[in-house]
Amino acid sequence: MDIELSIIAATRFLREHKINPEIGVVLGTGLGNAFLEEVQVIETIPYNQVPHFPIATVTSHKGQWVYGIMHKKKVLIMQGRIHYYEGYSMNQVTLGIRIMKQLGVEHLLISNAAGNLNPEWHHGELMLLTDHINLQPDNPLRGRNPALTPRFPDMSAPYSIKLNNLLQTIAKKKKIKLHEGVYAAVMGPNLETRAEYKYLRTIGADVVGMSTVPEVLVANQVGLPCCAVSVLTNDAITDKPHQVALEEILEVAAGAEKKLTALFSELIKMIK
Ligand code: HPA
Repeated sequence: MDIELSIIAATRFLREHKINPEIGVVLGTGLGNAFLEEVQVIETIPYNQVPHFPIATVTSHKGQWVYGIMHKKKVLIMQGRIHYYEGYSMNQVTLGIRIMKQLGVEHLLISNAAGNLNPEWHHGELMLLTDHINLQPDNPLRGRNPALTPRFPDMSAPYSIKLNNLLQTIAKKKKIKLHEGVYAAVMGPNLETRAEYKYLRTIGADVVGMSTVPEVLVANQVGLPCCAVSVLTNDAITDKPHQVALEEILEVAAGAEKKLTALFSELIKMIK
């Protein structure tokens, strides 16, 4: 499928539904119920109604666009993201980000669930991404260069310093612990072996997950300032084998949703 055609067709469809957002949000695994409660929803559109748009195949991801108002700002939310491990191409994985840019989104807020590699941190806490290590086997910027965006986008600061500073100010005010660190993106879908978790820590990662980085690469390429927050769903570095179950990840994500919602809600209020 031609990426430019997909962007045009999907964007046209959403424009026909009068979707005209300022802020984009991607909600990660098990995250979203609390956040969506704060949105005055105008329209909900399942992904399968949008031309060329992939369908979220993971049960913990709903798979719909939610458009609404939050603090008088027009917000477009991807409730459920598309992952590479589902079998989609990187162009499909990141189509939503390119559509958001075309629709006029000026700031992008991303959340995800991630395994904790930092021995001083604990599951249930949050981490603000300041950098990442991309270990995924494909790259959404490979190949044709849609809309003449840069061929070699700079990655010295992939996460907006302005948005990150605002989030830290909000976290302090609300007494929410918000670590800062490095996210390693792996392909998945299997969780890591104990040796792989140790390796990821050794190369400088604080958390590991299966998403986010393709979205951030595209956001940077198209000049869309973004920030991303990880919910640490499991402490991954352990001496004894500890099985990681999806149920556990979802339970911890649900427990941390309120904090994440408080941060994102206030950020949306403060973004100028
Ligand atoms: N590894 C990779 N992705 C994850 C993990 C993990 O331990 N936890 C939540 N997402």
